[in-house]
Amino acid sequence: MRRSEPMFVGPKFVASCALLMLVTVAANAATLTVKAGESIQAAVKRAAPGDHIEVEPGLYKETVFIDKDGIQLRGLVREGAWPVLDGESKLNDGVLVAGHGVSVERLWVKRFKGNGIMTQGANNYRIAYNVVEGPTFYAIFPQFGKNGLVAHNIAFGSDDAAIYVGMSQNVDVVHNEVYASVIGIESENSHDILIENNYVHDNTMGIATTMLPGLPVKASERLIVRNNVVARNNMKNTAPPGAITAGAPPGLGILVLGTDHTTVEGNLIRDNDGIGVMVSETNFLVTTPDDRMDPFPDGTQVLRNVFVDNGRKPQGTLKDLLDVAGVERGVDVLATGKGRDNCIAEREAVKTLGTRNFADCAPGATSAAIASLQTATPVVAAPYTADQKGRLTYLAVCTGCHTYNSKLIGPPMVVIKALYGKDARKLADWIAKPTHKRPDYPEMPSQDYLPEEVRMSVARYILNELSH
Ligand code: HEC
Repeated sequence: MRRSEPMFVGPKFVASCALLMLVTVAANAATLTVKAGESIQAAVKRAAPGDHIEVEPGLYKETVFIDKDGIQLRGLVREGAWPVLDGESKLNDGVLVAGHGVSVERLWVKRFKGNGIMTQGANNYRIAYNVVEGPTFYAIFPQFGKNGLVAHNIAFGSDDAAIYVGMSQNVDVVHNEVYASVIGIESENSHDILIENNYVHDNTMGIATTMLPGLPVKASERLIVRNNVVARNNMKNTAPPGAITAGAPPGLGILVLGTDHTTVEGNLIRDNDGIGVMVSETNFLVTTPDDRMDPFPDGTQVLRNVFVDNGRKPQGTLKDLLDVAGVERGVDVLATGKGRDNCIAEREAVKTLGTRNFADCAPGATSAAIASLQTATPVVAAPYTADQKGRLTYLAVCTGCHTYNSKLIGPPMVVIKALYGKDARKLADWIAKPTHKRPDYPEMPSQDYLPEEVRMSVARYILNELSH
């Protein structure tokens, strides 16, 4: 079954919304209007769960933090004039979503140092029809949530992934355009993610599915990368030095890094100067050991794709790899490592290297029966206790930049645990007012939007419980 029309608001989603309203939200939702010169956050404060907030065209300079369920935040675009949320390269985050069932639509979000639009542990969300402009770190960043939709957005100018799906499940990323970023679209330590019909061009790397060490989620599987246009991803890497992504060589179309049961199908992959599709173990980018995870890609299916003019000018580690193998340029599919049960279709039509252990995929193999990987009904999550809130906050917020034992953006948590011992109070205070301590790291953005008791519970969780 294929999507029958380009609109993604299928009956399933509408039904889900209706059900969600019944479950969580008072029957008569109000609509609040925000006019130019007013504050969107003030409207969120006034709103009841389930309310609609409409934002008139105009310039808004603030961070919007939504911790109520069911809020429908929507920009009104009139004659080409958008509501613009501008961080002026001073503010950290544009829109932060911690409530369930929230939607964020039709906003032009620009120049936030950290995230344009981020969800933190939120389920049943929808981020659609926005423009997210850099410079920024993650333009659109759903983190640690279930059942989401990221659709019809335009995102560009990220120093990491423009669309970054972190430790999530059941998310569709469809019909977006992403460019001029270090990575166009990344799914990290997530499962049941569909990346389809996106236009991914002129980034350093196009699309990556990654299994990274040191994070609390230790598996990543059932990922579909399908029907995307992945072109000219040859941009110079602009990631800050020391970040994991700083090591990504320009010119990679699609990278399958240690994830399992990843299907790459129906993509148009062209003019990526390094490699069209690379299937590799985690070590290719990150060498920190983590014996709780399997770093090898298993069950990958590289099905029918169209490859045109890839691999003409590999650079960095890719060039080294190809030189060692002694191959001339122009490789479409490169596989390294020891993954099991991988397969490739139409081998004769594709220039491959290292795919000797790949079987031929079954004739006619296709993922076409799967039209969406969102859940059929909204996910219902029990409210968190104070203790669970600490773990959730660690997962939903801190792991965006910290892992247990390697340098992601911030220092590893083992270092932080040693530094703070049992002093949770001191840690909770520091994250509300971080100072710039380490010259070889960027500054940590303040977490002062988190209520004090949440900062205390995350501090206690890190110092007393976190162990891998
Ligand atoms: C956007 C990225 C980012 C996020 C999100 C983030 N951090 Fe950090 N963190 C950093 C960076 C970068 C540093 C290093 C700053 C420096 O040394 O100047 C850091 C440093 C720290 C330190 C070291 C403090 C010290 O005294 O040396 C602690 C503690 C810390 N972070 C805790 C947290 C917690 C808890 C969270 C989640 C609530 C969190 N961080 C979320 C980026 C981040």
